[in-house]
Amino acid sequence: MRLQAASRATARWQPTQFLSILDLTPSDLEICLERAASMKAARQARRAHPMPLKGLHVALLFEKPSLRTRSTFQIAVRELGGDVIEPPPEVALGGRETIEDVARNLERWVFGAVIRTFAQDRLERFAASAPGLRVVNALTNEEHPCQALADCLTLIERFKTLEGKTIGFVGDGNNVAASLAQAVAMLGGHVIVASPSGFELAPSVVESVARVARFGGGLTVTNDPLEAVSAADAIYTDVWASMGQEDQAAERRRMFAPYQVNTGLLAKAPEGAIFMHCLPAHRGDEVSDDVMDSAASVVFDQSENRLHTQKALLALLAS
Ligand code: CP
Repeated sequence: MRLQAASRATARWQPTQFLSILDLTPSDLEICLERAASMKAARQARRAHPMPLKGLHVALLFEKPSLRTRSTFQIAVRELGGDVIEPPPEVALGGRETIEDVARNLERWVFGAVIRTFAQDRLERFAASAPGLRVVNALTNEEHPCQALADCLTLIERFKTLEGKTIGFVGDGNNVAASLAQAVAMLGGHVIVASPSGFELAPSVVESVARVARFGGGLTVTNDPLEAVSAADAIYTDVWASMGQEDQAAERRRMFAPYQVNTGLLAKAPEGAIFMHCLPAHRGDEVSDDVMDSAASVVFDQSENRLHTQKALLALLAS
């Protein structure tokens, strides 16, 4: 990865919370990705690294299911010398008392809180009530910034830089697409999001990407899947019905059928294009089996990189 020469000399990590990719400056994002790459190399070589969470606890508060995010945060905290507590959902986020009071209690006990919840507003209320806590967004309805960190590391491993690269996102203009577009544009890449009419990225996300885009990066929103893939270095998709939208699954399956990433669509992309998915995948819906299992697929690299990027994030939040 190429940290911009102008910022390297003065670059220092600043954020104390990570509710959104927009909490990071481009320099913060580059520092986090560089730290993740170095922690990944150290782990693969079984080299020791600093343990900045030694003696500290992190609360994992999840209101929605998770395999990757929960597991990788558990491992990340422990590999950094800390430990996790996992209060059950019925007491975690406003079940018995207000979100604000839960935050004020946890602030007295733990270093940080990793939160998966519904509206971004719930996360923001929690963070505002406990300014001493390091709060991390582990997915909300609107954003999935930890996923975007892993996605950017995966892209940089493949392409060295995101400058001049095109990522075609085919499917719902959802939380994963939003955070991906913000992060990729900040690093100089262009994201083309192709969604059925009525499922496009929110205008507020489009505006945020325009604000943070650098080096010719940016965002295009379209209804045409071919437009998203025809110049893409990477093709990305996600489930058609996210958590909490299961009752819309049948209707969405009908609307999104032309947006399936299959060998026919992949063949329209340039030679060497890779396939990405945040997982879990619904094979046969948004992606065909043969694309998931193809040589182009980097989905398990993305999954692995959740661990390395979240370790880097926690280490930086502890610095
Ligand atoms: N991609 C992702 O966030 O996976 P989980 O829902 O399993 O955490």
